[in-house]
Amino acid sequence: MLRSDFLWGGAVAANQCEGAWNVDGKGLSTADCMTVGGIGKVREFTDGVLPGVYYPNHEGIDFYHHYQEDIALFAEMGFKCFRTSIAWTRIYPDGDDEIPNEKGLAFYDAVFDECLKYGIEPVVTISHYETPYALVKNYGSWRSRKMIDFYLKFCETIFRRYKNKVKYWMTFNEINVLRLHSEMSAGIRIGKDENAEQIQLQAAHYQLTASALAVKLGHAVNPNFKIGMMMLYPTFYGETCNPADQLECMRQLDPHLYFSDVQVRGSYSSKAKAYWKRQGLTLDITPEDEAALQAGTVDYIGFSYYNSNVATAREVELIGGNMLNAVKNPYLKASDWGWQTDPIGLRIALNQLYDRYQIPLFIVENGLGAVDTIEPDGTILDDYRIDYLRQHIEAMKAAVEEDGVDLIGYTPWGCIDVVSCGTGQMKKRYGFIYVDRDDEGQGSLKRLKKKSFDWYRKVIASNGEEL
Ligand code: BG6
Repeated sequence: MLRSDFLWGGAVAANQCEGAWNVDGKGLSTADCMTVGGIGKVREFTDGVLPGVYYPNHEGIDFYHHYQEDIALFAEMGFKCFRTSIAWTRIYPDGDDEIPNEKGLAFYDAVFDECLKYGIEPVVTISHYETPYALVKNYGSWRSRKMIDFYLKFCETIFRRYKNKVKYWMTFNEINVLRLHSEMSAGIRIGKDENAEQIQLQAAHYQLTASALAVKLGHAVNPNFKIGMMMLYPTFYGETCNPADQLECMRQLDPHLYFSDVQVRGSYSSKAKAYWKRQGLTLDITPEDEAALQAGTVDYIGFSYYNSNVATAREVELIGGNMLNAVKNPYLKASDWGWQTDPIGLRIALNQLYDRYQIPLFIVENGLGAVDTIEPDGTILDDYRIDYLRQHIEAMKAAVEEDGVDLIGYTPWGCIDVVSCGTGQMKKRYGFIYVDRDDEGQGSLKRLKKKSFDWYRKVIASNGEEL
């Protein structure tokens, strides 16, 4: 059985749902400068906001003006928690402002109050792919050590303001994605002639230090805070039992565990240090940073899991997945966006993480991005989504019940349809709630319950027994 206080809920991020990109004093973020892509068409970052270009995150699903209606629907499904992020630029529009923007702070007061009214626990990602654009322009974002102070000031402001409303926090969304998509994840632009790895690992160190300092600060503000890390977990299989494939499998996972090792254990692994040496990297790491890393280890590991990946020692063509490309797995089916569905991979992820770290885990993203069709009678029969979620919940339960993993909650991604992070599309939908909006920004924004809405309500009511 799952624990009786299991945190069932759903997850979104401010930049993908709120809209209101320049309302009530909000500043420009990197997410506001991203165009629309598609399958095989990457999203581009423009230099600021250009006239005549469509930016889907500017309006998102206008959660900013619909939060009451949306949270009421989450409550109807019986959510115990709701994961969202706080847009840094709503609080500090340029990131380095002297004083916070009161209207931004008031908005999140209203969102959290609305959640608490229904007994829904807010779960807050402090930074989810929405770096203030001014910090990118003026400081090169996380290339600069100064970012640690800007981030901590933001943390202190929100920790103090919401200390009696929010208990669960996560410092950076998918921190390990900094090594894969530096600009989207951390606002870092890397030139073709630059040593990308040097820049990324230095920036990662500043984020890791900032995260650790934030954990310490948060616990000082409220000792009851539970402050976690958040990573993308890419379960890997070696393509064959050829030892070279298995070695490659380990190598593919290492850059991801690089982050969790520090955030959970409080120091870089010997493997990380050996890697710097091998690559000839020299990082700016002070003794004070090392002490901070030790003092700011996390209370839990939040992670996202959508698909698994295959590693091979051969030279082959790679196919898509969440954030990284991998080899096709002949045993799995892929989604319309090429992500290979694999519930067992989730059980393996839970086991690998728990075996390694022995601290509570929280699945804070999982789900199927798919095209939904509205039937003539207005229903949306998303059985494919129900199947996906059912299989993943079964796998997660097996990890808890049969393998002894300590899991505190499950928040499927995009519990209400939001703008896709990877493609900027609306038609890549994850929600239990449909939002009438298309890829050109047309639509009434009306909310409709999908078939999965009622299904998930029953799952929560039975604590995962009725699937
Ligand atoms: C995660 C991100 O990696 O994947 C989310 O944290 C994102 O922000 C989610 O939306 C799903 O990806 P996509 O590209 O389908 O939106």
